[in-house]
Amino acid sequence: MRDMEKKLKILTYGCQMNVADSERMAGLLKKIGYTLTDDAEDADLILINTCCVRATAEDKVIGQIGRFKTLKQKKPSLILGVAGCMAQKEGENLIKRAPHIDFVLGTGQSSEVARVVESLERERKHFIDTSNVSGEIPSEVFPLRGGKVSTFIPIMYGCNNFCTYCIVPYVRGRERSRPPEEIFSEVKQAVAEGFKEITLLGQNVNSYSGGMSFAELLKAVDKIAGVERLRFMTSHPKDLSDELIAAIAGGKNICEHIHLPVQYGSDKILKRMNRVYTVEKYLRLVEKIRAAIPDVSLTTDLIVGFPGETEEDFKETLDFLREVKFDAAFTFIYSKRSGTPAATFENQIDDATKHRRLEELMSVQNEISLEKNLALKDSVVEVLVEGASKTDEKIFTGRTRSNKLILFEHGKENAGELVNVKISQAQTWLLKGKAI
Ligand code: SAH
Ligand code: SF4
Ligand code: F3S
Repeated sequence: MRDMEKKLKILTYGCQMNVADSERMAGLLKKIGYTLTDDAEDADLILINTCCVRATAEDKVIGQIGRFKTLKQKKPSLILGVAGCMAQKEGENLIKRAPHIDFVLGTGQSSEVARVVESLERERKHFIDTSNVSGEIPSEVFPLRGGKVSTFIPIMYGCNNFCTYCIVPYVRGRERSRPPEEIFSEVKQAVAEGFKEITLLGQNVNSYSGGMSFAELLKAVDKIAGVERLRFMTSHPKDLSDELIAAIAGGKNICEHIHLPVQYGSDKILKRMNRVYTVEKYLRLVEKIRAAIPDVSLTTDLIVGFPGETEEDFKETLDFLREVKFDAAFTFIYSKRSGTPAATFENQIDDATKHRRLEELMSVQNEISLEKNLALKDSVVEVLVEGASKTDEKIFTGRTRSNKLILFEHGKENAGELVNVKISQAQTWLLKGKAI
């Protein structure tokens, strides 16, 4: 056995769910003596928490695993583990490809991480477990949270929607919801640690089924003392309820921001994606949300280059963007994921066309985002202070309730405070201003 000075380096790829899982794994590893380090060279254990939503995400992981090979040669006692979605998807292929990996742990078994590491400390041999993708969610968690003011709390795991392009249901398993009491107690725990902003997480929070509706859960968390801001993601347009819209409109600290991935702006492609709503239905939903929550900020995800996409479909999507006017959009090039239905669809789009369409889509949306931000000039917004900027101690960063990033001048604001900031400048992805 080694002493208590064991060092852990975690690399996290992918979405907020992975960030939350990494914090949980770090908490479990802390219990067996590992403290975090930023420096991989210094680590006794390196854990890579992976994503496989697009090929680019996997390429990054493969590159990173390759880079750790020399480190392992220099320090054979180093334990290298791969967890998360790509671990779930690839399992033993990872070790076949890179035998310097010691263990591969699927998404359903991440709470086993400390047990696995302890057994590898005693006896070194390859360990792989991806057997239970829909594994039970542990009722007690000990996350070692990063950041200072804002944190993520998963309320459910998995996805049952099977959008035809998406690998997530295969690597995250079926939907499982945590009981409300466990969520409440985790929220209280985070508040006690000093966190002011809570984001409730799930692949589709609106299908939360832990014994109350998601809207009820949100309202209950909103009542917990010390939760100064409450957010949630992600919402699927097919089941964002009137009850939820009312909860946001009537909430105390529920932020007026909805991330509502549309994925595409033509009915033909939406159908082929298995999104089960139409453009018309989505537009009506947006209207309803905006009528009930006047200051609401809406953001979305879009995929270009889905198989069968024609220039006509693409133009419809550009028109759709101009009509909805999202505050921001995350835009992706379709990435073929083997095992998903769309991977076998005919009329896959060539790379040059995909890239051209992405550029065009981004330039249309960037104009809209800028226009939306410019409209905020001279207004006063509430900002949750994240901290001083690294380069200038008089400049602070934070987020508005609408989740926009803002840089502002002030001499003495502390992280975690809510301050009013007058906006003086607006850019596509950023606001600037001065605390008043
Ligand atoms: N559950 C969430 C998001 C999961 S993945 C939701 O439904 O909104 C995050 C985003 O990645 C998706 O919204 C989608 O836009 C994108 N995405 C998923 N699969 C993809 C693929 N094969 N190629 C490109 N983008 C993809
Ligand atoms: Fe993927 Fe669709 Fe599930 Fe989101 S709702 S995780 S896009 S299958
Ligand atoms: Fe998230 Fe990537 Fe997995 S987006 S759920 S980490 S495949």
